[in-house]
Amino acid sequence: EYLQEDEVTQEHRDLLSSLPREKGWVTSHLFQYQGFWHTSRHLKGVVACQQHFQAHDTDILLVTTPKSGTTWLKAMAFALLKRVRFPDTRHHPLLTNNPHELVPFLEIKLYAESKVPDLTSFTAPRLFSTHLPFTSLPESVNTSGCKLVYLCRNPRDTFVSFWQFTNKLRLENMGTNPLEEVFDKFCWGVSLSGPFWDHVLGYWKESLEKPEKILFLKYEEMKAQPHVQLRRLAEFLGCPFCPEEETRCVVDEILQLCSFENLSNLEVNKNGKLSSGEEHSAFFRRGEVGDWVNYLTAEMLDRLDHITEEKLHGSGLKF
Ligand code: A3P
Repeated sequence: EYLQEDEVTQEHRDLLSSLPREKGWVTSHLFQYQGFWHTSRHLKGVVACQQHFQAHDTDILLVTTPKSGTTWLKAMAFALLKRVRFPDTRHHPLLTNNPHELVPFLEIKLYAESKVPDLTSFTAPRLFSTHLPFTSLPESVNTSGCKLVYLCRNPRDTFVSFWQFTNKLRLENMGTNPLEEVFDKFCWGVSLSGPFWDHVLGYWKESLEKPEKILFLKYEEMKAQPHVQLRRLAEFLGCPFCPEEETRCVVDEILQLCSFENLSNLEVNKNGKLSSGEEHSAFFRRGEVGDWVNYLTAEMLDRLDHITEEKLHGSGLKF
């Protein structure tokens, strides 16, 4: 999905040529559309999804900044919502399918592959995901009762995870992405679905105004208090754990099923690939908070923290 730059129509080419462009991290270019950066392929999906996606009142949309734990959130939301249908975590779709296959991206997968994808196989509550910024969401997402779960992660780890991920995606002859170069891009906001801070702030503000519509989660909080956050998610989605489930330790079971250790060691995630070519293993690296310490220099840290402070100032949001 991040790799492919497939055939473009004249209409899409016209759109691309009207937009600001910068050199990409993996693909040749990123394009700035409605204030945020996308690859050519994603952009096709963004436009198609804005034009054609009709949200249902019962839909649930998982929204994330790239590399904030999307794969983890997809697994947890799927296990949570489908627990009546798949109560046995020893025989569960997550054991044989990568979470991205079970909860597809709107603009990166469904609407990138087809302008009007057939969604009839999705049963309520339909579970989709997206990296779209708040201002670019299809209109029906806002006008319907559709609920949004937003997940982000501190910018230091997000950047490092991103850099490592793109190194895995780059073709061998491209070599490693120069850290300094992509760090500079990240700081300028030129990253997939960036500027990072604008993305986070868009959803943060909206979640304050409409807490019943948007649940705002942080990767660090999920790592620190997974039980608390999973229960919070269940309540928000209208399917809280009942006393009987609590005695059966269903919360523990779901967390165990979706843990980094469990998912990353499954055959499907060790050796499988997405239909678009990325190896499933690329979505599992360390899964820890604070790995930035091994990569960022004091200068980089200074610069990043300064931007974060400036951008988030007065918003009430802290990392
Ligand atoms: P690291 O690169 O820091 O290890 P995304 O899913 O949004 O692409 O984010 C990927 C990040 O989430 C990677 O971070 C990855 O290791 C981590 N991750 C994937 N599965 C996870 C899980 N089950 N629990 C915790 N972290 C997970």
